[in-house]
Amino acid sequence: MKARIIRTLIIALILFIIIAQFLVDKSNVSSYESVKAFEIAEKVDENISRILKNNCYDCHSNHTDYKWYGSIGVINLFQSHHIEEGKEHLDFSAWDIYKEGKRKHKLEEVFEEIEEDHMPITVYKITHGSLSETDKDALLVWAKSRL
Ligand code: HEC
Repeated sequence: MKARIIRTLIIALILFIIIAQFLVDKSNVSSYESVKAFEIAEKVDENISRILKNNCYDCHSNHTDYKWYGSIGVINLFQSHHIEEGKEHLDFSAWDIYKEGKRKHKLEEVFEEIEEDHMPITVYKITHGSLSETDKDALLVWAKSRL
């Protein structure tokens, strides 16, 4: 009986892995141009641009670097979920359609999330490393200057 349950679970797991492979979605890859309007409007210099590119744009813009493991179905499912949810909350590629008030509010949230070490999310820190203290400070100074 027990062996049967285990066998069923293993088959279900294998099926899940195979189906996930067919669902691989790496479509969030507009060019870097998609964040240009944001970078110009908010006076993002080269250093801040680098920090955002390495730590935030993957989930908060149309410009994701999926890396090699993004081709693994099961991992890709998580990535796609984070991108969808991330962009719902904050989308740097949508800056030109955000109203002035919304922009300020989002920048306030950026400041808070960085100050409280909430972003990037934990699983991303494992693969990409945490924000260095210097980069964190630079982001905070920049975000504050835009409020
Ligand atoms: C791996 C994906 C991922 C990365 C990378 C990432 N975020 Fe997020 N972010 C999310 C998700 C998912 C949410 C929504 C759920 C939550 O708040 O945890 C979110 C929410 C936010 C919010 C909105 C919070 C709110 O109150 O609505 C801000 C602001 C934010 N992130 C800023 C950043 C900044 C700045 C960076 C880079 C330093 C970053 N994020 C990197 C996934 C990510």
